[in-house]
Amino acid sequence: MNKTIIAHTPSEMEEIGIELASILTDGMVVSLVGPLGSGKTTLCKGIAKGLLITDVVVSPSYMIARSYQGRMCMHHIDAYRVSTLDELAEVGLDDYLPPESGVSIVEWPDRIDGLIEISTFQVTIELLEDEDRRVNISKQ
Ligand SMILES: Nc1ncnc2c1ncn2[C@@H]1O[C@H](COP(=O)(O)OP(=O)(O)O)[C@@H](O)[C@H]1O
Ligand SMILES: [Mg+2]
Repeated sequence: MNKTIIAHTPSEMEEIGIELASILTDGMVVSLVGPLGSGKTTLCKGIAKGLLITDVVVSPSYMIARSYQGRMCMHHIDAYRVSTLDELAEVGLDDYLPPESGVSIVEWPDRIDGLIEISTFQVTIELLEDEDRRVNISKQ
């Protein structure tokens, strides 16, 4: 699978997440690549909606990871401050890559060698003119 969609608004970005959630199953990892402010967390909020998670999804930056329960568990991981898989292992996050149950959504996976390669879906977001974002989703 490889598709490209333009999200004109934050709610269109959430919609992409909602649709992606409908094809997620236990053990999958979704990597979200894109610059600061591109909409990675917004897309993750859409995935959470699609998974019927009612808690408010916040940026996990200072926590590194947060888990939310919905129709399945969603682990939201921010790898921004981590640079190696060993560092992730030190804080126990390697358990989520891949997760035994639920799905893992990783922001800044490109900070860690090999992380994008082990993910089920690779999402890349580019900033276009105005508020538009180009979103490419591919599945290995
Ligand atoms: N088309 C769009 N898609 C996603 N976010 C958008 C869009 N247009 C504007 N925004 C805004 O850009 C910001 C994206 O922030 P966020 O999702 O936290 O990005 P990231 O996690 O990549 O740093 C939000 O304030 C959102 O409202
Ligand atoms: Mg973010």
